[in-house]
Amino acid sequence: MHDPQLAADGRLRHLLTLDGLPRARIESLLDDAARLRAQWRTQRALPPLLAGRSVVNLFFEASTRTRTSFDLAARRLGALVINFDIASSSTSKGETLEDTLATLEAMDADAFVVRHRENDTPALLASHCRQAAILNAGDGNRAHPTQGLLDLLTIRDRKGRIDGLKVVICGDIRHSRVARSDVHGLQALGAAAIHLCGPTALLPAGAAFPGCVIDEDFDVALTDADVIIMLRIQRERLEHATQLDGAAYHARFGLTGQRLARAGHDALVMHPGPINRGVEIDSSVADGAQSAILDQVANGVFVRMAALAQLLAP
Ligand code: CP
Repeated sequence: MHDPQLAADGRLRHLLTLDGLPRARIESLLDDAARLRAQWRTQRALPPLLAGRSVVNLFFEASTRTRTSFDLAARRLGALVINFDIASSSTSKGETLEDTLATLEAMDADAFVVRHRENDTPALLASHCRQAAILNAGDGNRAHPTQGLLDLLTIRDRKGRIDGLKVVICGDIRHSRVARSDVHGLQALGAAAIHLCGPTALLPAGAAFPGCVIDEDFDVALTDADVIIMLRIQRERLEHATQLDGAAYHARFGLTGQRLARAGHDALVMHPGPINRGVEIDSSVADGAQSAILDQVANGVFVRMAALAQLLAP
């Protein structure tokens, strides 16, 4: 079946998910991001690849990192950026999302960056676009492709490769779009083993993550890990689904300095943010020498530049 995010000639038409995106396309996005990063860091300026283009941020859920980095990425490449205010828009009067999209597209908006709590909203909007591109900034528990890309870039920078690595992802896997996009990207780029850890109620059925090892014992999973990705735990969901409080969760699944020692001595510690310090990760680890958390944030700007440029640059 044809992938709706690719044009007939194989170029990117939308960015909706890493699931099924060819390895070469993922690598070209990472390569473009690394090139733009090198240019930005040496010259503090970039070519206006998006001059004359308009990018609309449509965030129906809260965001700090994704929204700000899409905004910076687009502006630094010369685009006009509109941060659409949902609360004061006609969507609050009952206008459908499709009609909102058609209205903004009629004003020659070139791209929409969409975050929504419902799975598949970006794909639905993509199916209604005439010309504009849709970039998924996170939908429900389904996909967060630019988070997956920035995680891949961060790992590739520090480890030199993805091929052959052992990666452990720990937390609320069942409800995590980050876990899904990370797994799709890691598998496409040849990770050797991906272990998914967490309390039973927050782990998916095995079929939801083919090729991954489901592991309830975090200490066992950590042995010889190359990369550890910790996920944010929502306290309300934790207590409702598992009857564990923050302290009990930390005792079993919190990444402490002592636990980190079970992994490879140069294991990379990652977290998409926002962090619950003292619950899923200790401050000494989050701020320690093995942490790449702020590198992830920095890389977010460049992978979003790469995605916007591949979608919109002439
Ligand atoms: N990682 C991530 O998506 O963070 P935000 O919710 O702050 O965008």
